Amino acid sequence: MTKATTRRFFFGGTIVFTAVFIAMTIHTHMTIAERTHADRLTEEVVRGLHVWGRYNCENCHTLLGEGAYYAPDLTQIVAQRGRPYLTAFMADPSKFYSEERDGRLMPTLGLSDPEIQEVISFLEWVGGIDTNGWPPRPILVSGAAPRGMPYVEGSLTSDDAVTRGKALFDGAAACATCHSRTQGLTQIGPTLAGIATTAADRLADPAYRGAAKTAEEYLRESILKPNAHVVTGGTYAAPDGTSLMPSTYDRTLEPDAVDDLVAYLATLQ
Ligand code: HEC
Ligand code: HEC
Repeated sequence: MTKATTRRFFFGGTIVFTAVFIAMTIHTHMTIAERTHADRLTEEVVRGLHVWGRYNCENCHTLLGEGAYYAPDLTQIVAQRGRPYLTAFMADPSKFYSEERDGRLMPTLGLSDPEIQEVISFLEWVGGIDTNGWPPRPILVSGAAPRGMPYVEGSLTSDDAVTRGKALFDGAAACATCHSRTQGLTQIGPTLAGIATTAADRLADPAYRGAAKTAEEYLRESILKPNAHVVTGGTYAAPDGTSLMPSTYDRTLEPDAVDDLVAYLATLQ
């Protein structure tokens, strides 16, 4: 290359890439309202943002990777945990975590009931922001659970329903943040060790209130309609008896995904 071509190459390249950069910046700014779903910014969401600021949640937590790194990132927390659980947790975190066992504990901040609902609405709005898939996998926050979820995305495309179901359980559907598969290890929900057998026992119990007739139907009902029959136990339900399991899977999980989860749970004899 001669000096002149080198110079042309340099200036030409600089101009082209500057133009691309400017165009992409403009594009980003033009799509912000759409990507953040500005239309969902209700008054309740805005009040929730003020709760978030007033109680300095950001001094411990991160949202979209920004903030302090002491406590979990909460970007997808509403999709992972659901409103009933978050309502109970925020009122008294010590019901679910212990300082001795988990090495850290969120203080009880004394939020009023409306403030709790507002801050959850704010977090729900944050979770709806189109972040191009960030964070790449759920961030595990459950104290007693084995920390660090396996990276499971590849197995979601497996030919085997059980393998896909396990990948969903650990990964995308984040069931593992509330359910262990170890006998005797209760997180927020009951351990699912032996759930295929337990399911049959639940149906045989005169206290059973749901509509399932077989163990498989029980598993499906537990996922899609947690309130059809609420298992009794320490941290399983709100004071009014509502299950703390999210009741949104009938909307957020594809029917195939539910089939895969049921296939996987049926192997836990
Ligand atoms: C002093 C630090 C601190 C502050 C301030 C704080 N948190 Fe937390 N929070 C924590 C810790 C620590 C955990 C994780 C508990 C654990 O793993 O032991 C947590 C967990 C959570 C969780 C997840 C619970 C779960 O089980 O998945 C939510 C939701 C949450 N906090 C919301 C909030 C909100 C909303 C605020 C402000 C109103 C707030 N936090 C303020 C320390 C804090
Ligand atoms: C926020 C915590 C939470 C999450 C997340 C969660 N669960 Fe649950 N789950 C619970 C609680 C609490 C119960 C017990 C109360 C009830 O019966 O609804 C429960 C009950 C169950 C039961 C019945 C267990 C029994 O002993 O009869 C099954 C099965 C189950 N969950 C499967 C799942 C699957 C699959 C997922 C993921 C798609 C999931 N759960 C996500 C909290 C959770």
